[in-house]
Amino acid sequence: MEEVTPIARRKTDHIRINLEENVQSGLTTGLEQYHFIHRAVPEINLEEVDSSLVILDKHLNTPILISSMTGGTVDAKKLNIILATAAQETGIAMGVGSQRTALEDPKAASTFKVRKVAPDLLLFANLGAIQLNFGYDISHCQRAVEMIEADALYLHLNPLQEAVQHGGDTSWKGLAKKIERVCKTIGVPVIAKEVGWGISERTARILVDCGVSAIDVAGAGGTSWSQVEMHRAPDELTRELAGSFVGWGIPTAESIQLVKKTAPSMLIFASGGLKDGIDIAKCIALGAALGGMAGPFLKAAVISTEKVHHQIELTRQQLRIAMFTTGAGTIGSLTRSKLIKA
Ligand SMILES: Cc1cc2nc3c(=O)[nH]c(=O)nc-3n(C[C@H](O)[C@H](O)[C@H](O)COP(=O)(O)O)c2cc1C
Repeated sequence: MEEVTPIARRKTDHIRINLEENVQSGLTTGLEQYHFIHRAVPEINLEEVDSSLVILDKHLNTPILISSMTGGTVDAKKLNIILATAAQETGIAMGVGSQRTALEDPKAASTFKVRKVAPDLLLFANLGAIQLNFGYDISHCQRAVEMIEADALYLHLNPLQEAVQHGGDTSWKGLAKKIERVCKTIGVPVIAKEVGWGISERTARILVDCGVSAIDVAGAGGTSWSQVEMHRAPDELTRELAGSFVGWGIPTAESIQLVKKTAPSMLIFASGGLKDGIDIAKCIALGAALGGMAGPFLKAAVISTEKVHHQIELTRQQLRIAMFTTGAGTIGSLTRSKLIKA
């Protein structure tokens, strides 16, 4: 398949820029300020530590998510297959990147389809919520879910990314009502996510009222999409504009707690700058159900399936040892572990 559509070209740019340039936020996740209370006598056996859990009716061996990234091009198809194969084999969850390109060019649909290699995977479809203000409706959302036989739909929220790019979609008025309509009619769980600037209390309240089933905070401290747009900018003004937002956003640790406070029973996914299984353990102790990573898995997937396996296994062991040394034998017990703030 030739990569000719503007969206496909943009997706190729995103991957290249993420791999070649420094697109790190100027902020940290805030997780480095939190510490578990180390237990020198944990009174549990490491091999009995159980990091499994059920999320959205699917069993996961460990609460790790490969965050939504890609699709739409030949290279993206290879990456999706590599990521999905590793996720299936290790029992973690995965999201594909925005499927808009496949809704507009049906030939691109195959680049998102991973069910053949991942029949049991907790798999998330993905669309930009803003498309609901530009002609998309429930039928587009249903097609995205059916296209990949997804378990749930991610609607991503990226107003800052749209605002700092040339020709971005910046008419966001009235969007919440449209998200609400999707949540009420689609028949699968809808998860709202940011893309690296976090979810505030006010946004969480709006999303609760919309009826979303989960919120992925995708907070600041990792990949910065204004930095990605800075590297794609067609002129100096746009470049400078995008670059000025390097320090923007709600750090991941803070965003998890804001959402938890606003909606204590909401299913929360943590992502945005998580670097390892210890970060995931901290996010779970702060109120999240699982931890997602995008950038780190992209860098592994361009090398090989084995490298993705390695990354997952390292993350899994880091998480289990963090559980062991805090005396948490299960994920339920980890959610009750205390963190101290430095
Ligand atoms: C190459 C790449 C492409 C991405 N594309 C999407 C996308 O299509 N949809 C989406 O919701 N998020 C997308 N994201 C954002 C991630 O899902 C995630 O929210 C963000 O990168 C923060 O996580 P990180 O700091 O672990 O990279 C993408 C991230 C990367 C690195």
